[in-house]
Amino acid sequence: MANIVGSITTSHIPAIGGAIAKGLQDDPYWEPFFSAFPPVHDWLADQQPDMVVVFYNDHGLNFFLDKMPTFAIGCANAYNNADEGWGLPVTASYPGDAAFSWHIAKHLIEHEFDMVTCQEMLVDHALTVPYSLTWPGKDNRPVKVVPININTVQHPLPSAARCYKLGKAVGDAIRSYGGDEKVVILGTGGLSHQLDGQRAGFINKKFDLMCLDTIIGDPETLTRYSNEEIVELAGTQGVEFLMWIAARGALGDTVSEKHRTYHIPISNTAAAVQLLETPSAVAA
Ligand code: DHB
Ligand code: FE
Repeated sequence: MANIVGSITTSHIPAIGGAIAKGLQDDPYWEPFFSAFPPVHDWLADQQPDMVVVFYNDHGLNFFLDKMPTFAIGCANAYNNADEGWGLPVTASYPGDAAFSWHIAKHLIEHEFDMVTCQEMLVDHALTVPYSLTWPGKDNRPVKVVPININTVQHPLPSAARCYKLGKAVGDAIRSYGGDEKVVILGTGGLSHQLDGQRAGFINKKFDLMCLDTIIGDPETLTRYSNEEIVELAGTQGVEFLMWIAARGALGDTVSEKHRTYHIPISNTAAAVQLLETPSAVAA
């Protein structure tokens, strides 16, 4: 039986990728953000996961407004990045595990999540930046990836309640896999941010901190927010919090928070990192 050891949830601001490319991790502007990660690296060194299942939202690289799946899963042995126009270097490809992906896809479709299955899938900054933060080092690819894309670009979006159920079904699928893989979940996006319109630059620290507190022990409370309410409270792009909800769903009932940071002055976005551990994690 494959095991889920925990989740890492983080913002995926493209400028972070630019800072990594320029080696600015210790720069006074960036250090408060990058200093969130050494405890995550220490935890991963103890847990030694083989696989990462990533809930992320494509921003127009693989899916565009003409064809927008609500939920899509990569079922390939490799995933490429491509130029999105942010000025970031195109990254080396990410290894996948098609057999593991197909197992998850089959379980999801049997449980009424009608996924789009992708045997080719370009992955954008919402996957590449968090992967680089979590496993730093150019071309360092210690874990295989299952990318799961949730639409937050083109309304109507799936509800928080639906994304939580998707996460739960993904968790069940992973735990029903015959191998002995150790799996970590990555959820990327958020927290509050609005990149355009009259409220551009909008951030809601009080709401963000409430979400970080509540998602640990009472995620179902957060699933009662409609997407319209999340937009109102967290900004138009704050709906990326749906990735955090899905990631939390995969973990099961009991988790403990191992690490958390919340840092505002990066780009337009409240940058948060949270590490939750399941009872399957090895004692450090
Ligand atoms: C920014 C944040 C995002 O989530 C994103 O996808 C692109 C840009 C930003 O803060 O600049
Ligand atoms: Fe984003």
